[in-house]
Amino acid sequence: MRGLGHHVQASGAFQASAVIQPTYLGHLSQDGQSCPLEMLILLPGLQETENLARMLHFEMVRVGSLAIGHQYSSLGTQPILCGSIPGLVPKQLRFCRNYVEIMPSVAEGVKIGIQECQHQFRGRRWNCTTVNDSLAIFGPVLDKATRESAFVHAIASAGVAFAVTRSCAEGSATICGCDTRHKGSPGEGWKWGGCSEDVEFGSMVSREFADARENRPDARSAMNRHNNEAGRTSIIELMHLKCKCHGLSGSCEVKTCWWSQPDFRVIGDYLKDKYDSASEMVVEKHRESRGWVETLRPKYNFFKAPTEKDLVYYENSPNFCEPNPETGSFGTRDRICNVTSHGIDGCDLLCCGRGHNTRTEKRKEKCHCIFHWCCYVRCQECIRVYDVHTCK
Ligand SMILES: *[C@@H]1O[C@H](CO)[C@@H](O)[C@H](O)[C@H]1NC(C)=O
Ligand SMILES: *[C@@H]1O[C@H](CO)[C@@H](O)[C@H](O)[C@H]1NC(C)=O
Ligand SMILES: *[C@@H]1O[C@H](CO)[C@@H](O)[C@H](O)[C@H]1NC(C)=O
Repeated sequence: MRGLGHHVQASGAFQASAVIQPTYLGHLSQDGQSCPLEMLILLPGLQETENLARMLHFEMVRVGSLAIGHQYSSLGTQPILCGSIPGLVPKQLRFCRNYVEIMPSVAEGVKIGIQECQHQFRGRRWNCTTVNDSLAIFGPVLDKATRESAFVHAIASAGVAFAVTRSCAEGSATICGCDTRHKGSPGEGWKWGGCSEDVEFGSMVSREFADARENRPDARSAMNRHNNEAGRTSIIELMHLKCKCHGLSGSCEVKTCWWSQPDFRVIGDYLKDKYDSASEMVVEKHRESRGWVETLRPKYNFFKAPTEKDLVYYENSPNFCEPNPETGSFGTRDRICNVTSHGIDGCDLLCCGRGHNTRTEKRKEKCHCIFHWCCYVRCQECIRVYDVHTCK
């Protein structure tokens, strides 16, 4: 969302009691693919009370979900039976029963984490398909202690913290809400207002839940704990102030501001950088009173030691060219490659030098989409022919 004076941010679940006609300023992409809608809804100049703003938030969330694909729409609609979730360890089961109202957002968090992982790694040899779209994420994700495992843990635990934080701010649970610690006088020309997202609470939930299995004294547990925490820390790093103007149209006499999480994509990009610069570690064994304990130490002294924000791993990744269940590699045979790219998604690299096949494919696509007031999109169907290249 762009910073256009009055546009409002989604931050609460509110009841709309009147119909407001917001000003539509978005545009439609006509690439024939999916007709993504980009919507900005402006507060009409004179309706500036908090109430109206909030109803607009509500409108925007509702309208927005048409386009973004029901990211949060399933929250709270299905009762959760903790006993029926596969693979929970006792601590997680207890947690689930105590905090059952936030379990839908825990599940949602895992899902957005994995979707983001698949987005970040699309077109690469390892494309995050080894990870199942379920709570099993907290079990053995990938057997080996590779960079990929590090990323999956970080993004999933970030996803949980993110989704729980967001749903608390939206008012969907009674045990959590907005972060009320920001009182005091913030600065010249603005005051605290709206709902600061309580990332501490979301992180606590993620820590309790995602780290519940990671209490063994071995190296892998230490690695998972570290990377889970790095994922959560990334959100705290990327929190930012969002502000809204009040006053006569455009005058911004009074500004109210609140802390907000970034878009999850921003977190994905950030953690992908951390994946690229992840630190290789070695395992050290110590004898302690409770027995042998494994810890991790940087493999190379001449690199900067990893901080809590960095990802760590201690086993090298396979090249993911051939299928191998042990390493979580599916191989790249039959993967679609990009014949004009010299990057990792190009046929040379993605197919590991084995060459590629080409076929043509006709696809029905939505096209000539038109946005109708208010608020739906109608498209025609067109047939397009594509060359599809797949790895041998
Ligand atoms: C990811 O890789 C798997 C296994 O090679 C493949 O089946 C799947 O289609 C790929 N997904 C995408 C989005 O490319
Ligand atoms: C993923 O989950 C499905 C069921 O949801 C299961 O049949 C499949 O074996 C799982 N795959 C992996 C790699 O764990
Ligand atoms: C293929 O690669 C080229 C060059 O990097 C890029 O411009 C193009 O968008 C890619 N095509 C697809 C379908 O990703």
